[in-house]
Amino acid sequence: MQSKQLPGLHVGIIMDGNGRWASARGMPRALGHKAGIEAIRRVVEASPGAGIGTLTLYAFSCDNWSRPEPEVSALMGLMRLYLRNEIGRLAESGVRLSVIGRRDRLPDGLAAAIARAEAATAQGERLHLRIAVDYSAREAILQAARWAQGCEPLTREAFSMLISGGTPDVDLVIRTSGEQRLSDFLLWESAYAEFHFTDRLWPDFDSDALAEAMTVFRARHRRFGGLTGSAAVAA
Ligand code: IPE
Ligand code: IPE
Ligand code: MG
Repeated sequence: MQSKQLPGLHVGIIMDGNGRWASARGMPRALGHKAGIEAIRRVVEASPGAGIGTLTLYAFSCDNWSRPEPEVSALMGLMRLYLRNEIGRLAESGVRLSVIGRRDRLPDGLAAAIARAEAATAQGERLHLRIAVDYSAREAILQAARWAQGCEPLTREAFSMLISGGTPDVDLVIRTSGEQRLSDFLLWESAYAEFHFTDRLWPDFDSDALAEAMTVFRARHRRFGGLTGSAAVAA
């Protein structure tokens, strides 16, 4: 489905380091995930003011099912809680929520809660918040390839539309916790994205950390394969 495009940048965040944050405090990993929810709240609030129109948060990958069952259950429970607690606030502050990824493997009730949250926030025009749950970029590309069969002419734009429903390409990918990899996040959409890696663990991420990432981003020279500055006009 094509979605309305909001002005502003598209930032994707790989929210990593919850487990290490908890371990460093002698706490169970689930409490790190709980603290991570607070960071989501802070970043969502700060995003429109930071020039972000679309924010995609990587919450749970298809490969995360391989974690121990109690941790997976804790994460799914937190997602339910997040939807229940935040939906009113999101709707009031003009945030449209979408969830990307598979829904058929989610625990009972979660897919329905997601659908309700999406419907309740559908009018939001300040920020498009996309949460990636049971998400794999390679699966998304594969799914688009299946849909594309018989789609003529299959252009780059048409294929993009199948993958992201009209959501603009990613401008900036942020990953916390010091890891420097994509872990199957928005592979197609990040073709010309800038990358910002920070050692800060996700539960410690806040509006200042976001502002710093945006400052670094704005100092970058994006060329999209072309040239900029005086080189662009030289013969
Ligand atoms: C990110 O934190 C949240 C998910 C991947 C679900 P982690 O749980 O990966 O935390 P670390 O990387 O083990 O510290
Ligand atoms: C990536 O983090 C997925 C999410 C943040 C949801 P992981 O912690 O699962 O990634 P790897 O295993 O370090 O690559
Ligand atoms: Mg991790």
